[in-house]
Amino acid sequence: MLSSEAIKISNICCIGAGYVGGPTMAVIAKMCPDINVHVLDNNESKIKLWNSKDLNNLPVYEPGLSSLIHECRGKNLFFSTDIKKNISRSEIIFMAVNTPTKTYGSGKGMAADLTFIEKCSRQILKYSKSDKIVVEKSTLPVKTAEKIKSILGNSNTNINFEVVSNPEFLAEGSAINDLFKSDRVLIGGESTKSGISAVQTLCRIYSRWIPKEKILTTNVWSSELSKLVSNAFLAQRISSINSISALCEKTGADISEVSSAVGMDKRIGKYFLNSSVGFGGSCFKKDILNLVYLSKFYGLHEVADYWHQVVKINEYQMNRFFLTILNNLFQTVYKKNLSIFGWAFKKNTNDSRESASIYVSTNLLIEGAILNIYDPKVESSKIINDLEFALKNHGKSKIEISTIINSQIKIHNDLYESVIDSHAIAILTEWDIFKELNWKRIYKFMVKPAFVFDGRRIVDEFKLKKIGLNVFKIGS
Ligand SMILES: NC(=O)c1ccc[n+]([C@@H]2O[C@H](COP(=O)([O-])OP(=O)(O)OC[C@H]3O[C@@H](n4cnc5c(N)ncnc54)[C@H](O)[C@@H]3O)[C@@H](O)[C@H]2O)c1
Repeated sequence: MLSSEAIKISNICCIGAGYVGGPTMAVIAKMCPDINVHVLDNNESKIKLWNSKDLNNLPVYEPGLSSLIHECRGKNLFFSTDIKKNISRSEIIFMAVNTPTKTYGSGKGMAADLTFIEKCSRQILKYSKSDKIVVEKSTLPVKTAEKIKSILGNSNTNINFEVVSNPEFLAEGSAINDLFKSDRVLIGGESTKSGISAVQTLCRIYSRWIPKEKILTTNVWSSELSKLVSNAFLAQRISSINSISALCEKTGADISEVSSAVGMDKRIGKYFLNSSVGFGGSCFKKDILNLVYLSKFYGLHEVADYWHQVVKINEYQMNRFFLTILNNLFQTVYKKNLSIFGWAFKKNTNDSRESASIYVSTNLLIEGAILNIYDPKVESSKIINDLEFALKNHGKSKIEISTIINSQIKIHNDLYESVIDSHAIAILTEWDIFKELNWKRIYKFMVKPAFVFDGRRIVDEFKLKKIGLNVFKIGS
């Protein structure tokens, strides 16, 4: 059995080699050279990419990640599909599997789908031969640790499984920096002897590079809930400023000026007050819906309605942007070439989950537009998959989807090629390269009158207007 002191760790494994598992474990490996870190996934092709010599082709793009992988991989950082062996030999097992919104049955479209977490727990139970600290890295509804414990408790042996919540707060696009310099590390555990020992063990690992005062220990439920609430608060700020951007467009106020004025108040703060076409990413929407579901489950309908509105405003903002394009292009985009700048949900990531680009592009395709898409990091196959999925959700048949994909979409490697004969450009990701474009050259290639719809507020509208472009900037 575990004692109440931190235990010696030689092997750590992480189930789930995605946007959280890969970067998080790379940083732990770098900061703990005496510990072997094994990142596991049942997706063989993903593990192959993590092990590939070509560091430009890792499954996750994050600034600083490839050099970390280069430094640690093969020394104390390993990527593998051998879940059995690595669970068996690890003292700590992180669970960083996906927890998407349920797409079926009870709680459909709201609750978190815990299928992957359950499967993971059963694998841990099956392959463990000694005591384990099981760490919830995935974002989970409150009380999930209890469910995991009930699965792990079904062992006929004397193995002790200590379930600890350690939610991840990294932001994609700055994940490596966030992991090295976390605002806080949150660890929730039970107040039993073995629970305290597990928490201490994890604290000792993080304290190698995170100042002690930033390591916060709580009970398990507070830790699980804090992650959902953090994402809800962040998304709420975006929806709040985006709702005001609509008012700015009607009244002649400018959202950047309003954001600066509001953000200078210390009580409010200046971060997360940039207006845009809307938030994306795999987390905000799903975590808020999860919070809404939980609130409803406990009969707190007013609380549920309050948070649901954050997601509704986000959808409203994306739809507003799409309608602005349509209305400015004389209410029709049928057979018109339009250029889409950016597919990732934000800059410095190759992740496009829930990206505003998907929403806006799908609506434009349904209106008959021909889309010329450019993104510096997202793979063409991912763009096509995203659109196929979105069109299916719009009720399009297989034949209709394949016709749209084949006749209305072109994906470009060269941004300047993507604007030839284009009626309009929609900027949907704030990639730095979009801030330094040769707009005179772009204007020459375009059909006149030429339009730029800036969903990220990154262009100099006065400069572009001088060239001859019609510019719409969200919130102005
Ligand atoms: N992406 C983020 O920015 C972020 C930030 C904080 C927290 N989170 C949370 O972290 C969790 C993981 O998110 P992600 O973005 O890394 O997801 P992801 O989809 O990128 O990665 C999850 C991986 O888990 C693998 N997997 C699932 N079940 C498995 C199993 N039984 N055995 C082995 N591998 C399995 C999948 O193949 C996939 O590669 C989610 O709960 C998410 O909400 C994500």
